[in-house]
Amino acid sequence: MNQPATRIDTATLDPLETASVDELRATQVKRLKWSLKHAYDNVPFYRQSFAKAGVHPDDIQTLADLAKLPFTTKADLRDNYPFGMLATPMSEIVRIHASSGTTGQPTVVGYTQSDIDVWSDVMARSIRAAGGSRNDKVHVAYGYGLFTGGLGAHYGAERLGCAVIPMSGGQTEKQVQLIRDFEPDIIMVTPSYMLNIADEMERQGIDPHTLPLRTGIFGAEPWTDSMRTALEKRLGIDALDIYGLSEVMGPGVGMECLETKDGPTIWEDHFYPEIIDPVSGDVLPDGEYGELVFTTLTKEGLPVIRYRTRDLTRLLPGTARPMRRIDKITGRSDDMLIIRGVNVFPTQIEEQLLKIASLSPHYEIEVSRQGNMDMVLVRVEANHHDIARDPVACEEAALQLQHAIKTHIGISTQVEVCPVESVMRSMGKARRVKDLR
Ligand code: DLL
Repeated sequence: MNQPATRIDTATLDPLETASVDELRATQVKRLKWSLKHAYDNVPFYRQSFAKAGVHPDDIQTLADLAKLPFTTKADLRDNYPFGMLATPMSEIVRIHASSGTTGQPTVVGYTQSDIDVWSDVMARSIRAAGGSRNDKVHVAYGYGLFTGGLGAHYGAERLGCAVIPMSGGQTEKQVQLIRDFEPDIIMVTPSYMLNIADEMERQGIDPHTLPLRTGIFGAEPWTDSMRTALEKRLGIDALDIYGLSEVMGPGVGMECLETKDGPTIWEDHFYPEIIDPVSGDVLPDGEYGELVFTTLTKEGLPVIRYRTRDLTRLLPGTARPMRRIDKITGRSDDMLIIRGVNVFPTQIEEQLLKIASLSPHYEIEVSRQGNMDMVLVRVEANHHDIARDPVACEEAALQLQHAIKTHIGISTQVEVCPVESVMRSMGKARRVKDLR
C-alpha cells in the first residue's frame, strides 16, 4: 500500500526462486529421491508404512510417482511421541519444537543445524518477498518458545540482516510502546493479535498512519481478504500472508509476494505440495480445492512424506515467482462446522461481518444443540461504543449480518452485537469457535 512494488531487489533472489519450471522440477526429483531414501533408511515408521503399501523408494522416479506412497498423519507423529520420527541421532539435533494442538500429546519436531539453516533461508526469502531488506527493523510478536512462530521469524529476519525486536506475544501495552519508540518497518504477528494491538494503539491515542510501520507479515491462522483490507486501511500498511506448519518446518513454507498479493508462493524447492481429495485420497489437479499435503525435500531431522495438513485450499500457477501458490486457506478440516448439513468455516462468517461498517472484526461463534437442532450464535462486537449503546443500531446490524449469512452461506444464525471489548482477545492464534455440543 505505502511502498511501490519496485522495492524488491530481484537481483538478490535465490537462484531457484527464478529458475525455470523445468529446472525446478529436476531439482525436486533429485531432492525427493534423497529425502525418501533418508526417511526409509532411518525411520522405522516409514520402512513399515512403505512395506505395508508395497512400495520402495526406488519405485519413485518421478514427482507423479509420489502418489504411490502412503500418507503420514498427525496421529502417526503422535504414535511415535516424542522422538520416534527423527531420522538422525539426537547428537545431530540442535532444536526441538512442539505444537500444542487442542487435544492430547503435543506433536514434536526436531531440527539439525542444516534444517535451521534452510529454515532461516526460507524465512529470509519470505521477509524479502514482503519487500524487507537489511535496512529494516522487524518487530516479532509471534510467541517465542515451543511454538515455531517467534524463533522462525527471528532467525529469518536475522539471516536477512534486519534488526530484530524479539518482543514475543502478550504484554499488549508494551508492544505498542516499542512500536512507537523503536519504529519498526515490519511487524510479524497473527492477524488477530494485530487487531488487538491496533485497538491498544487507539486507546493510547496513537494514529498508526503516523508510524513508519510499512508491512505486516501475518499468518498462523486463517484470515480473509476482507480482513486484509481492514488491517491495511486501519494501519496504513501492506498486509501479507505467511503460511507454515511445525510438522513441515514452521513459518515460511510459503509466503505471499508484495508485487502480487495473490496468495502464498510455496517454496517448492524445499516443500513439495500436492492437493488431495480428503475423502478418497486421490491427487487432484492444480486449481481444484482439496487438502494440502507436503513432502519435505531437504529436511534431515524430521523428514515428512506426504504429510496431510488438514488445511483446505488449492494450488495455483506461479505469478511473482515460477513456484506455485496456494489460495487463501479456507480453514482446517478439523475447524469445519457442519450445521444442519451445511459445511461452514469461521472465515466465511468473518467475510460477511467485515462488510458491515458498524461491526468490528472481533467475533466468536458458539455452536450448541437444542433438541436435534444445531444452533449457531455469532457474537460480534460493535465497532464503536456509540453503536454498542444504541439498541436500534445493534439490532439493525444483527439483522443485516443474519441476512448476509443466510444469503451467502445458507445457514440460519442468531447474532448478538455486543459491547466493545467483550469478546475474548487473542494474543496469538485466535479461537473463533466455542462448540458446546
Ligand atoms: O502456525 C507456523 C506459523 C507461524 C505460520 C507463524 C505462520 C506464521 P503450527 O502451530 O504448527 O505452525 O500451526 C500450523 O496453522 O496447518 C494452518 O492450519 C494454520 N496456518 C498457518 N499459517 C496459516 C495461514 C504455525 N497463513 C497450522 N493461513 C496450519 C491460514 C494458517 N492458516
